[in-house]
Amino acid sequence: MSRFAYVNGRFVRHGEAAVHIEDRGYQLADGVYEVWAVFDGKLADAEGHFARLWRSLDELRIAHPMTEAALTMVLREAVRRNKVRDGLCYLQVTRGVARRDHAFPNPPVLPSVVVTAKSIDRAATEAKAAQGASVISVPENRWGRCDIKTVGLLPNCFAKQAARENGAYETIFYDDKNVVTEGSSSNAWIVTEGGALVTRAPSNEILNGVTRLELIKLAAAEGLKFEERSFTMDELRRAREVFVTSASSFVMPVTQVDDKTVANGKPGAVATKLRAALMAHMDKQVAAAQA
Ligand code: PDD
Repeated sequence: MSRFAYVNGRFVRHGEAAVHIEDRGYQLADGVYEVWAVFDGKLADAEGHFARLWRSLDELRIAHPMTEAALTMVLREAVRRNKVRDGLCYLQVTRGVARRDHAFPNPPVLPSVVVTAKSIDRAATEAKAAQGASVISVPENRWGRCDIKTVGLLPNCFAKQAARENGAYETIFYDDKNVVTEGSSSNAWIVTEGGALVTRAPSNEILNGVTRLELIKLAAAEGLKFEERSFTMDELRRAREVFVTSASSFVMPVTQVDDKTVANGKPGAVATKLRAALMAHMDKQVAAAQA
């Protein structure tokens, strides 16, 4: 199937889509991105991802390239042209193309915008979630603004590669106090020995996941005991349940952390319930949304 990408104002064949060699995203990782889950051909949690996009751009002092309404049309068109029912839609905005200089272009240039959309095998993700995933842990080595969704992802790439090389699904970062920050591309959660659902509060140390925010609401609706606080690797290893969340994995139960099996080695009841609640919520949300 031929695929299409949106690049700076037009849709082109995916194989021929290109940006200039002096795009600041390419040379300096000077840009941000967002990833939407696509359910039944529609964008899930559209507003949450836009809110974070605007915040990331503002924090980096990159101009908004289009209005939310115009960008939404581009994203929907990318989903439509690529015939995506279940999948992911990717948006990247960089500070634009300019002669290489660390300082911002002066006068400013137009931001570059790229959008792609791809299908994913939902059944395979469901099978993985039913089985449970393993994670490894590594010391935190990212910069001090992990709250911004920048395309500067080298430490995250090394962390994910370490997971691959160890046959694991994800890598969890912990700081110099042994406190868990988050996964390389996900937020980390535990259910404590005492039965409380815990994830850390938003700060510069983590990306405030849109899935994370949605799940906090769903947990309240389920009447779960919830604590928004930090936890250590030791607490995570002793936890009754561990799981990670993201737009691509939704809620992924973790059954192994490094060489330690989590509880009985099976996906936990809370993670399983929250995953089902999230899927039902997304299905309902997109059913109500405009095509
Ligand atoms: N990653 N933390 C990090 C470092 C992430 O990269 C992500 C998402 C999350 C979860 O955020 P959300 O629930 O909004 O997807 C947390 C995306 C999926 C990615 O990089 O592909």
